[in-house]
Amino acid sequence: MVFFTEQSYLCQMKKDIGQQALVSGFSKKTKAEKMAWIIEHFAHPKQAIQVLEAYNHPDPKTQNLHDEFIENAVANFYLPLGVAPNVVINGKTLTLPMAIEESSVVAAASNAAKFWASKGGFSAEILGTEKVGQVHFIFDGTTDKLQPFFDAHKADLLQSTDAITKNMRARGGGITALTLVDKTPLLKGYFQLDVRFDTKDSMGANFINSCLEQVAKTLQELAAQHNAFSEQEKDIEVVMSILSNYVPNCLVKASVSCPVDTLLDTPEESRLFADKFVQAVRIAEVETYRAVTHNKGIMNGIDAVVIASGNDFRAVAAGVHAYAAASGQYRSLSKAEIVNGVFHFSLTLPLAVGTVGGLTKLHPLVRWCHELMGFPNAEELMQIIAVAGLTQNFAAVKSLVTTGIQQGHMKMHLLNILNQLGATESEKKAVVSHFVSNTVSHHAVVDALEKLRTK
Ligand code: MEV
Repeated sequence: MVFFTEQSYLCQMKKDIGQQALVSGFSKKTKAEKMAWIIEHFAHPKQAIQVLEAYNHPDPKTQNLHDEFIENAVANFYLPLGVAPNVVINGKTLTLPMAIEESSVVAAASNAAKFWASKGGFSAEILGTEKVGQVHFIFDGTTDKLQPFFDAHKADLLQSTDAITKNMRARGGGITALTLVDKTPLLKGYFQLDVRFDTKDSMGANFINSCLEQVAKTLQELAAQHNAFSEQEKDIEVVMSILSNYVPNCLVKASVSCPVDTLLDTPEESRLFADKFVQAVRIAEVETYRAVTHNKGIMNGIDAVVIASGNDFRAVAAGVHAYAAASGQYRSLSKAEIVNGVFHFSLTLPLAVGTVGGLTKLHPLVRWCHELMGFPNAEELMQIIAVAGLTQNFAAVKSLVTTGIQQGHMKMHLLNILNQLGATESEKKAVVSHFVSNTVSHHAVVDALEKLRTK
C-alpha cells in the first residue's frame, strides 16, 4: 500500500524545513560529518550534497585554506570576479578587480573609466588616515578626580602597549593620541579613553583592539592602586574596548573634471546633460530617499573592490553611511558643480582598508587581485576604491538623466533571464541579437524565446 505520494512527502519536508532539532558539539564534527548532518534537512539529500561538493575546491590544500577562514565551513560561496580596464588614476592606468553579482556594475565601471580616460582620467588624494578606538568605562566619581589621575598616568597607559606597538612603530605607525573623554552628560558614570591610531598599510582592527584591551587593563590596575581614589573610585568598570568603524578622518577624495562643452558629442547636448547631472546630485544632497539610492550606486563600486581586495566590506559600509549622515541628515557622498564652464564631479568618503594582514596574503584570488592592481599600499588602495565608487556613480546618474536606468540594466540582466528560462547557447545568441534593437523586459524575453522555439 502507498501511504505517501511524492507530493505529500515534499509537503511534509517543506513543513520540516527550518524545524531542526538542536545539535550539540557541531563545531567538533569533521567537515564530512557536518555536510552529512546538514543535507538531512533537504528534500533531496543526494542533490544537496552534490551542490556542496561542486562548490568545494578540487585542490584539498586550497579548500583547507578556505575552510580555516571560518567555523563550520561546508562549501565556498562564489561571486563572479570581473575586471574593468582603462581606469586612469593620477595619470596611471590600471584594471579594477570587482567581485560582485549585480549584472551591470562591471560594465558601468568599464564604460565610465573609458569615458574619463579620454578626458585625462581620475584624480585621487588622501585627506587623512586616522583610525579610532575607545575604552568605554564606568567611573563612580567626578571628572575633577579622574582627570588628574589620567594626566599623571597617561604615559604609563601608553607605555603599557609598547610590546604590542613595537613593530607598528618601526613601520612609522602606532598610537598617535590618547585622551580622556567625559561622557557623563549622556550616561551616568560613563567615561572614555579615546585612542587614535596610524596603522600604516594594515586595516589594523586586531592591532587596535589589542592596544585598547591592554590600555583598559592598565587603567584598572593603576586606578586600584591610586591612593587619592575612594574604594568605589578605585573599582573602574571597563564595559568594553573596541575600535570604531566610524573613521571620518580616514578620508579619500576622488574627482574628475572637464570643460562642460566636451562632455558629450555636441556642446548643446553637453550643457543640457551637465545641468541635469548637477541637479540630480543636488537632489541627492537634500533628499534622503534619493541619497540612499544614490549612495547605494556608489557602494556598488566600493564593495566590489573592497571584497576583491580582501577587505571588510561591512566595516567600510558602516563607516561610509555614518559619514553620509554626519551633518544630521543622510546625504549624497558625491558632489557635482559647474564652475566657469568646467564640470566638476567628486566623491569624498572614509575608507579603512589594508593591503597587509587579514586575507590579503592568504586568499589566492585576493592576492591575484592585489597583483592586478600593482600591489598598492593602503593609501593607493583607498584611492582606487574611491575611484571605483565614482565610476559607478557617474555611470548611474548619467543613465538616470539620459536614457533611464532600465535600458542598460535590463540589457545586462538579459542573460540572467535567459539562464532562468533554460535557454541554450544558440537560443541565447539569437535572443540577445533580437534585443539589440528592442526593449528588454522579462515578459518580452519570454515571448521572444517562445517564438524562437515554435519557429
Ligand atoms: C542600482 O544598483 C544602483 C542605482 O539605483 C544607483 C542610482 O540610482 O544612482 C542605479
